[in-house]
Amino acid sequence: MRLLILSRNVTLYSTSRLVLAARSRGHEVTVADPLDMRIVVSKGRPSMFLGARPVEHFDLVIPRIGASITNYGLAVVRQFDMMGVPVLNTAVAIARSRDKLRAMQLLTKKDLDVPVTVCARSPDSVEQALAVVGGTPVIVKLQQGAQGIGTMIAETPQAVTSLLETLWAMGQDIFLQEYIAESKGRDFRAIVVGGRVVAAMRRQARRGEFRSNLHRGGIGLEAELDPRYVRAAVQATKVMGLEIAGVDMLESRIGPKILEINSSPGLEGIERATGRDVAGAIVAHAERYVLRRASASKRRDVVIEEERRPRRLKPEVLSTPAKRRIS
Ligand SMILES: Nc1ncnc2c1ncn2[C@@H]1O[C@H](COP(=O)(O)OP(=O)(O)O)[C@@H](O)[C@H]1O
Ligand SMILES: [Mg+2]
Repeated sequence: MRLLILSRNVTLYSTSRLVLAARSRGHEVTVADPLDMRIVVSKGRPSMFLGARPVEHFDLVIPRIGASITNYGLAVVRQFDMMGVPVLNTAVAIARSRDKLRAMQLLTKKDLDVPVTVCARSPDSVEQALAVVGGTPVIVKLQQGAQGIGTMIAETPQAVTSLLETLWAMGQDIFLQEYIAESKGRDFRAIVVGGRVVAAMRRQARRGEFRSNLHRGGIGLEAELDPRYVRAAVQATKVMGLEIAGVDMLESRIGPKILEINSSPGLEGIERATGRDVAGAIVAHAERYVLRRASASKRRDVVIEEERRPRRLKPEVLSTPAKRRIS
């Protein structure tokens, strides 16, 4: 098949591994920087240009959209969606998972566990917010952080107040989160591809650091996940609507607590820690996905989930509260 990888740089480990894995399975691969693409919105004929030339036909797009280009990157992915090209992952699913608060709202709605999280926007509510998350130390997070940047720890209520006031003044969306002390700087990263965990590692933060991100000096070692953690990772990925994901989970006394779901998980750390061919698993899933999509689209038009019109409520649902108000 003809595969397009959207990535800012072909020399990045993850991008080059995907290219090699796809070529070794006999596919034709192109890598393009999403920022070089021009989106043309036109009635009945959405299209995309790379320089002066229209983008040719691809069977599948794998977007690797980093946090720094989220908005434009997502617009490009959405355009491929509109053009009927299968994308792994879809723009809607990437956007859902990238907003950590939105992701946690969806996870808890489906009964998945997360650290208790409070979002507030007024200095007066800090005391109550702290009480809900179990006091200090407390985690303060940017809604859209990545690679450990944007995740902070505050040891005292005074530190929380000054941190929040500073971040609010800078226009940042933030939330407070229960600090899971028993995880001791360790967490699990599970890579889920096509509804299966294909690799998992335990990450340990370096000394004096609570964040286990490899970008922050953490180390990763292959891990055998307990079935509860496998289930949590797979379900969390499904709730987001992602086909490929890196799920970060803390080990709490009562089981897995999901921290976040990454839609473009880095492959270097996990492949080195586990020796597993994660890039190969992604390409193998891409092949199955294209076949499945082809047979599905024969049966029905593919509708992009959040772009449907809201369903009409049944008349009895609408009339009940009004009746109650009158009586
Ligand atoms: N509530 C928490 N309790 C304990 N450790 C946490 C908590 N939230 C985050 N961490 C640590 O910080 C790291 C980064 O947090 P995460 O939410 O995954 O942000 P990022 O997107 O920057 O990776 C996690 O991998 C974990 O080691
Ligand atoms: Mg993380």
